[in-house]
Amino acid sequence: MSGFFAVLGHPVAHSLSPRIHQAFAKDVGIGIDYRAIDVAPEQLPATLGALAADGIRGANITLPLKEAAKVACATVSDRARIAHAVNTLTATEHGWHGDNTDGVGLVRDLTERHRLDLRGRRCLLLGAGGAARGVAPALLDAGIDRLIVVNRDPKRADALVDALADPARVGSRYWKDLGSLGEFDLVINATSAARDGQKLDLPFRLAAPRFAAVDLNYGDTAISFLAWARTANADLAIDGLGMLVEQAAEAFEIWHGKRPDTDGVYQALRAGDRSLHGDD
Ligand code: ATR
Repeated sequence: MSGFFAVLGHPVAHSLSPRIHQAFAKDVGIGIDYRAIDVAPEQLPATLGALAADGIRGANITLPLKEAAKVACATVSDRARIAHAVNTLTATEHGWHGDNTDGVGLVRDLTERHRLDLRGRRCLLLGAGGAARGVAPALLDAGIDRLIVVNRDPKRADALVDALADPARVGSRYWKDLGSLGEFDLVINATSAARDGQKLDLPFRLAAPRFAAVDLNYGDTAISFLAWARTANADLAIDGLGMLVEQAAEAFEIWHGKRPDTDGVYQALRAGDRSLHGDD
């Protein structure tokens, strides 16, 4: 099939997306042209225009372009609208359609790869930036019982809670009150603290017996949160590598209409873990 695909980011050289999409293409028996393109945020509109003229059919969007990509879209999915962020662009005759597959990627990783039943879980979401906004709607769709959003800047937590529009299940709390919020069955680190070399100081009393912990980062930037989770006796403590692979599979299916097997590439990337960079 003609046309090409790409991941756009800044920087983008470390991105695992080309490797993941090529592995998927091999798995389903098609050939794809998939490129990595470094785009400074201020260049995104012009670059998207040029890529569309050149025949690009779809693009994965990584840091720091997810919000700017949404602005460039003619249409967006509900989940991208709530996230204020787009990670998957599809070229249409009416312009770009933007979607956000991060949340469904996380839910698939938790429920299918790690066999975690999310229904009825009391969940703590740390952070209210693009990553947190991307995963929150899918967690609610997956049937969690309660979602408490805690962010350093409380206004961003409140804005996310408002956008989710589910007051019976979703609320915000202050970061300074983390020690008195009770116990959670699922704790998700959606902050970028470790990417900036900062360590979160989290109370162990957040952890319910047999709780699960997920860092949406992977590689080195997930180490300190996962160490906290293991010390708190987490039943499951995982980084965001599985989510990365699953969100890519979702984008692949949108573009090619075929669902690839994700286990092979996940295992291969996991085996090379030490070379991974934490922000695709
Ligand atoms: P991303 O796209 O990765 O979500 P982002 O939109 O810049 O990046 O959001 C970063 C998130 O990490 C925010 O929730 C941020 O909190 P603020 O909104 O208060 O800035 C959070 N964050 C970053 N450094 C942090 C730290 N040291 N402690 C707690 N939260 C932190």
